[in-house]
Amino acid sequence: MTANSARPYAYQRIVVLTGAGISAESGVNTFRDNGGLWENHRIEDVATPEAFERNPELVQRFYNLRRAQLTEVKPNAAHLALANFEQEYDGEFLLVTQNVDDLHDRAGSQKLLHMHGELKKVRCVRTHRVYDWSDDITDNTLCECCQQPNLRPHIVWFGEMPLFMDEIYRALQSCDLFISVGTSGHVYPAAGFVELATQAGADTIEINLEPSQVKDAFQEHIYGKAGLMLPMYLTKLLQACQASKDA
Ligand code: APR
Repeated sequence: MTANSARPYAYQRIVVLTGAGISAESGVNTFRDNGGLWENHRIEDVATPEAFERNPELVQRFYNLRRAQLTEVKPNAAHLALANFEQEYDGEFLLVTQNVDDLHDRAGSQKLLHMHGELKKVRCVRTHRVYDWSDDITDNTLCECCQQPNLRPHIVWFGEMPLFMDEIYRALQSCDLFISVGTSGHVYPAAGFVELATQAGADTIEINLEPSQVKDAFQEHIYGKAGLMLPMYLTKLLQACQASKDA
């Protein structure tokens, strides 16, 4: 936080957006930090509807591995700090994540929207029913609702519509603080949230390892590891919000 913020921190409606960078210190690979490859695959080969049509086995195997990997990782200080902040803060709070891992859930975040879907869910391609899921999906896995091998990962692939957009836009249009953590700002609509929050009159801050693609749209910036920077920032923010309420 810098001393020249537009407001004395009396924030009442906070929206936080997180991306892959917040899970990096838990051991989950980010998307764009490995020469354009995600776990050794080009994103177009595993994260598009066309890829699933072309080679469903490869795509299912890829997400089976990602799902299985969740048992080896745990929430880090940044996930825990957000859950703790939400619990202590008495204004309105919404956490929107682009991440498909379950680390925010396991950290205890409550008002949480997974706009790009969840590894721990699958969906029937015929009925669109969504199921909680922890196992692999294979050629023989039958969907409960239609008894056919119709399940796909409940992941928003490139070219598909992100989830919960009405709810997210409503929150952005009325927020007074927007915090972005661990996202490179390459992927819309999430990369445009800062503009919407700014139009709503909100203060905006980017917390990331390095300047993002949309850094210029933010009023404030903190560069460093989320596991270190975010807990420090949220502790100060909570104190400031509580102090301004008591004043
Ligand atoms: N702390 C903070 N930021 C970090 C850390 C860290 N420890 N490690 C990496 N970062 C930053 C990187 O510098 C980068 O700017 O996190 C950002 C991660 O960016 P991406 O890999 O592009 O991930 P993200 O922005 O979440 O991607 C958005 O793209 O592929 C799709 O659907 C997928 O949700 C994903 C979306």
